[in-house]
Amino acid sequence: MPANQLAVVTGASTGIGLELARCCAQAGFNLVIAADEPEIERVAVDLRRLGSSVEPVQADLATTEGVDKLCAAVGDRPIDALLANAGVGLGKAFLDQDFARIKHLVDTNITGTLYLIHRAGNAMLRRNSGRILITGSIAGFTPGSFQAVYNASKAFLDSFSFALREELRDSGVTVTCLMPGATETEFFRRADMMDTKVGTEPKDSAYDVAKAGFDAMLRGESDIVTGMKNKIQTTIANVTPNEMLAKQHRKMAEPGTAKS
Ligand SMILES: NC(=O)c1ccc[n+]([C@@H]2O[C@H](COP(=O)([O-])OP(=O)(O)OC[C@H]3O[C@@H](n4cnc5c(N)ncnc54)[C@H](OP(=O)(O)O)[C@@H]3O)[C@@H](O)[C@H]2O)c1
Repeated sequence: MPANQLAVVTGASTGIGLELARCCAQAGFNLVIAADEPEIERVAVDLRRLGSSVEPVQADLATTEGVDKLCAAVGDRPIDALLANAGVGLGKAFLDQDFARIKHLVDTNITGTLYLIHRAGNAMLRRNSGRILITGSIAGFTPGSFQAVYNASKAFLDSFSFALREELRDSGVTVTCLMPGATETEFFRRADMMDTKVGTEPKDSAYDVAKAGFDAMLRGESDIVTGMKNKIQTTIANVTPNEMLAKQHRKMAEPGTAKS
């Protein structure tokens, strides 16, 4: 069904976004893929081998100009699927974090994501057709001590996704929230979390996570928590006091919790 439709995937150079882009290409979508670094060009060359057209866009999606650059690359073409996945993490205690990195996280995970969805979503609504997949996280269920701003950003996206879905209920536009647990990607290294338990323990496969999210998006489902362990974790989190959740989070995210 998606043959020759257009999918836009952000954060497609590595990790979950790369695998989401692969799922799109395997299903026959043509692609516009975006990331901040030049690596996105090489990824486009690889993905083209799957037979789809793939256009790379190097843009800093933490900025209005970066999102505008991505939208300009898409031009007047209808976006059939928007996979808003680009995001960054940030470990360590809040007061020890560099504020420029805190701001960059909020600008990337929240502001840039909202601006892109606002632009693409309006175009979809005018056509009364489209699919939006937002990469939230099960981190959004837990106040994340030693990852406080990141978890809060994902709580924002998880919440936003359900709300937007409801607003678009009577339209032809669906909104799906992909909520992975810890996944094997560049994420924890980039977030300076390789001295933590969560950063160093075994994780889910990025392809399995992406495939579950992609399939849920095609089915127009509201959300997908990947993996049984994560499903149990979120069910428990829903009935556990926030104070206790924050205490538990410390055990896996505090610097020095990595097993030596
Ligand atoms: N890994 C996990 O355990 C996990 C769990 C739940 C949710 N998630 C979410 O999954 C999403 C993907 O993360 P990942 O785990 O796949 O990490 P990753 O391997 O570090 O990938 C992040 C992607 O986002 C891009 N990106 C980051 N900042 C950007 C910016 N300002 N502008 C444009 N592109 C930007 C990166 O491109 P550049 O390299 O070019 O910057 C890269 O392609 C994130 O939203 C993350 O919060 C991850």
